[in-house]
Amino acid sequence: MAADGIQPVADWTQAEAEWTQPEAEFWAPQRNGVDASFAMQPAVYADDGFFAAEQERLFGRAWVAVALAGEVARPGRLLVRSVGGRSVLLTRSDAGLHGFLNSCRHRGTELAERDCDIANTIRCPYHRWHYSADGRLVAAPLFDEVPRDDFDMANYGLIRVRTEAWGPLVFVCLNDDTPPLEEWLGDLPDRFAAYGFSEWRSTGLDGAARTFDVAANWKLIVENFAEYYHLPWVHPELAKVSRVPDHYRYQGPGMYCGQTTTPVSGDERDDWLTLPAAAGLDDSDAASGRFVALFPNVTLAVLPSHMFLMVLEPLAAGRTLEHCTFLFPPGPMTAGEPSAELRTSFEITRRFWIEVNDEYIDICERAQRGISLGGAPPGPLAPRFEEPLNRFHKMTADLMTLPSAADLTVPAGDRPGGVDLYGSEPNPLPPAIESAEAALTGKTSHS
Ligand code: FES
Repeated sequence: MAADGIQPVADWTQAEAEWTQPEAEFWAPQRNGVDASFAMQPAVYADDGFFAAEQERLFGRAWVAVALAGEVARPGRLLVRSVGGRSVLLTRSDAGLHGFLNSCRHRGTELAERDCDIANTIRCPYHRWHYSADGRLVAAPLFDEVPRDDFDMANYGLIRVRTEAWGPLVFVCLNDDTPPLEEWLGDLPDRFAAYGFSEWRSTGLDGAARTFDVAANWKLIVENFAEYYHLPWVHPELAKVSRVPDHYRYQGPGMYCGQTTTPVSGDERDDWLTLPAAAGLDDSDAASGRFVALFPNVTLAVLPSHMFLMVLEPLAAGRTLEHCTFLFPPGPMTAGEPSAELRTSFEITRRFWIEVNDEYIDICERAQRGISLGGAPPGPLAPRFEEPLNRFHKMTADLMTLPSAADLTVPAGDRPGGVDLYGSEPNPLPPAIESAEAALTGKTSHS
């Protein structure tokens, strides 16, 4: 019997039957509006059975970012990625980008163990069936020594998976019923149009790409990114340049949660803004930081001069790989060797973000330990700061429970209206896309 004041640890096994039920009590607090919303149940973050179900229902039906577009920019390169418990190959041919299950059409053997160059031919290591970069079976050695009338190589190409690119990212979707990536992204391509992300590149500088092994559930990392309630206490340095009072909502229709900081720099430090800004940004983009958590596994921290991009790879309920990359607009950071001055600026910027990320990891791992080992029942979200979590939780609940991904409803945008904009004052420098909509509707973006 529990001592006075101590809640019994949640019976996760009892809840298991509800994880995939649309009307289940398990998800009821997430269906509420923001002013009656709660955190998700401990099992969502800490139960191995939930993680397995999530791999199938959420990662098996979402558009999942699996690589940077630059990693598979040229024909002849092959990437191996894991998504929804499946191994997937990514290639590029003259016809474009391709994704396939990593399994031979002869007897199913894994075709590649890791990223490699393939000279445009994927060769099975077992009996040497050959596939072209666009997935066609082009050779089956010795197979016709005793010909089979029923064997036509055209019927044994690699199994395709839906593969698309947007901006700096390549996405895979294992489910044919999921809405197209265009619908999934909503208005993000328009919001970010002026940045020209497809032209942004990483650099070969030390530390421009790094992977962290985090002892926390992937959703805790997304949640920490998507709310700024914790900012003054967990990220005191970030709070100087991305001040709490300068945060505004940045959410149109789409499977994402967003916020913006305007202006991006407080008056205490601006050394992370010394890198050259992208050309062609309007007044709002040029003065703002955009922070977008694209469901399920990407976070984009976009500054006028650079992006700190995280792609999350869940390995277990309590373990996530965090692939972090700095990207830069076309200019002196990406054209040839950066100057000594730029390298110094980058090192200051890099150290700043790594410090913030270390703080991230520390608090997320602590949250994981508390949820796993304490298992307190979910508490209420702060409407002023944590509305994006309610939006994220609804997306999670939908993907876990919908019988068909074809029934998924992409979240609408915040504007116009205002009931979901608690505490957010009118943005003095709203993004162009919101100004344009306000003009159309005759309302301000925060009316
Ligand atoms: S399993 Fe691939 S060629 Fe036999």
